[in-house]
This record gives sequence, C-alpha cells and structure tokens, in this order.
Amino acid sequence: MTQPQHIILMGAPGAGKSTQSRLLKARYPLHVLATGQMLRDEVTKRSALGLLAEAYFETGALLPDDVMIAVVTERLIRLAPNQGFLLDGFPRTVPQAEALDKLLQRLARPISAVIALSLDDKQVVQRLGGRRMCEGLGEPFPLHIDDKASVDACLRLGGRIVTRPDDEPEVIVERLRMYEAETAPLIDYYRRAGLLHTISAEGTPEEVQAAIVQILEQTSNPPVTG
Ligand code: AP5
Ligand code: MG
Repeated sequence: MTQPQHIILMGAPGAGKSTQSRLLKARYPLHVLATGQMLRDEVTKRSALGLLAEAYFETGALLPDDVMIAVVTERLIRLAPNQGFLLDGFPRTVPQAEALDKLLQRLARPISAVIALSLDDKQVVQRLGGRRMCEGLGEPFPLHIDDKASVDACLRLGGRIVTRPDDEPEVIVERLRMYEAETAPLIDYYRRAGLLHTISAEGTPEEVQAAIVQILEQTSNPPVTG
C-alpha cells in the first residue's frame, strides 16, 4: 500500500516555498500547512494569535517556539492518518525541529523528505521586492509584479493585489537575518538525519517543481497523484 508522504519544504524568505507548495498541492493530495499564511489568516480574524503575530510581522522576528509548536501540533494531530502533508515554514528553529520529530514519532508518521530550496541573496531580494499577494480568490497566493500575465489574471478574476506588511525593505533584511541565524542550521540537522534534498530554486517555477517532483517520485513512498 502506498503510504502518505510527510514533506518539509525549506528555504530562505522569497526562495519560492509557497509558490512550490501551491503547484504541488494541485498535483498531489497533500495537506499544505503554511505557518506564515496561517498566521496572516489569524491577523485578518483579529484573534489573539493574530494580534501576537502582527507584532512580530512588524519587525520580521520569529514567533516564540512554544506558540508555533502548539499551533502546528494542534493541526497535525487533527489530520486523518492517511492524509499526507507538506509543511511550508515549519520548522524554523532547532527546537521546533526537535519537537516535530517527537510529535511525528508519537503519531508514527515519519518525515519522507526535506526539500531545501537554494537561491542566492541577490535573487531572494529581487523576488521579495516584487512579491505581491493575490487575495480574494480563495487561499491568497504569491505572484511577482514582473509576471504581468499572473497579475492581470488575478485582477480579471476579481482578486486584489496586495503587498505583505513584512515585505518592507528593512523588515526583509531582518527576516533574512533570522533565516541565517535560526533556520539555516536545520540544513545540517536534516542532512545528518539523511532526509535532506537541496535543489536550486533559480529556474522557472515549473522547472523547480519538476526537480521537486523527481525527488518525491524517488522517495520510498511517492504521493499518489490527485
Ligand atoms: P512566511 O510567510 O513563511 O514567510 P517566509 O519564510 O519569509 O517566506 P516567504 O513566504 O516570504 O517566501 P516564499 O519562500 O514562500 O516565496 P514565494 O513563493 O512567496 O512567514 C512569515 C512570518 O511568519 C515569519 O517572518 C515569522 O514572523 C512568522 N512565522 C511563520 N512560521 C513561523 C515559525 N515556524 N516559527 C516562527 N515564526 C514563524 O515567492 C516569492 C516571490 O518570488 C513571489 O513574488 C513569487 O511569485 C516569486 N517566485 C517564486 N518562485 C519563482 C521562480 N522560480 N522564478 C521567479 N520568481 C519566483
Ligand atoms: Mg511563503
């Protein structure tokens, strides 16, 4: 029997995690848990978590580990056992990764693959500087202002183009600093665990997706196509 896949998608801010999550979700029956988007949804709802997140978005800092671990635990334990998942934006620190290991061990759901998107800083800044969100057409999704066809399609379908509050230049600098300090060490963490697959995020979204699909198809339990 084909087992559900449990995938972690890593990469610097702007590397293209959410762009790839969206493409993979369209291809595979994966539940995508994107912690950044989940927090932005809470901001919109004005919930207690949203009000907390809003303060962190202003500076680009990471929310406290205990808060994020509780939120992700709550979501993962509710998933049906046969539902594969992809994590976009979690874990982001070593304590988060250790807590996830313990949780997945308890749930008997081992990590299938950790995919790290690699992109040089210049391109990261170029992508984040032009990133906008298309909202109002279901789950908000990222696009780039240089991708006129996507911008036009969003507007034509009745969506709104908005800038993420944490895409201000000084906040981008802090998010990149947090990534280097707190999240980049996870590359070694998962390499040591024998789970890491690093791929270049430089190509088009479709090229990057093809590289990810190749990895997923080669892992022991490829996700069943939807
Ligand atoms: P989050 O929303 O996860 O932000 P992030 O990690 O900074 O990553 P981004 O969403 O900015 O980038 P992305 O890699 O998804 O790139 P995208 O696909 O949009 O988190 C936000 C905040 O929430 C954090 O700063 C923190 O405060 C908090 N948070 C979340 N999780 C947390 C956790 N676990 N612990 C603590 N705090 C947490 O693409 C970027 C742009 O590039 C777009 O314009 C896109 O169109 C374009 N693009 C994408 N791919 C390509 C390509 N191949 N070619 C050309 N352009 C491309
Ligand atoms: Mg994202």
